Amino acid sequence: MITIISSTNRPGSHTLKLAKYYQQQLQEKGTEAGLLSLTELPANLLQSDLYGKRSAEFKVIQDIITKTDKFLFVVPEYNGSYPGVLKVFIDACTFPESFYDKKAALVGLSSGKYGNIRGIDHFTGVCHYIHLNIMPLKIHIAAINKEMDENGQLINADTLKFTNEQIDKFIKF
Ligand SMILES: Cc1cc2nc3c(=O)[nH]c(=O)nc-3n(C[C@H](O)[C@H](O)[C@H](O)COP(=O)(O)O)c2cc1C
Repeated sequence: MITIISSTNRPGSHTLKLAKYYQQQLQEKGTEAGLLSLTELPANLLQSDLYGKRSAEFKVIQDIITKTDKFLFVVPEYNGSYPGVLKVFIDACTFPESFYDKKAALVGLSSGKYGNIRGIDHFTGVCHYIHLNIMPLKIHIAAINKEMDENGQLINADTLKFTNEQIDKFIKF
């Protein structure tokens, strides 16, 4: 099972739009993928699901993670790295079986110039620690507000080329 993780809980995020784009592209290539947005996390996750606690609300999410063998993380740049809510989410998931020996592809995005290069590097370090195998081709989309039309479609030729290549490789990964 494949799950795309939209790795922020910010309402109206570009991250969720891009995650939906990847889901649609995978579907057009005949590959079904679920979508988990971190907006779906329990509002009181810090109290309800860290350090061995498990809420009924998070259990539904944990069950999705447990069943998934391939992840695609779409990760925005927040303060020069990946969002804190993504680390809280990883910390809340059961260790080690949630991600151990599974596979993932990473997509970074930002409104600024760098497309979350550093945040994707930081998150790659975490993924290695939890034994989540990362696909070598990572995509960084800078100036995301100039990359999508009002229907959530990517519009720049270069970005289309590289995301398409990543999606094809992800299907085979
Ligand atoms: C808390 C926060 C910190 C941010 N820090 C950066 C940053 O360091 N560099 C950057 O290019 N954009 C930064 N941004 C802008 C995001 O990259 C931008 O909102 C982009 O659309 C991706 O995030 P989104 O999915 O929340 O829309 C930040 C946004 C937030 C909410």
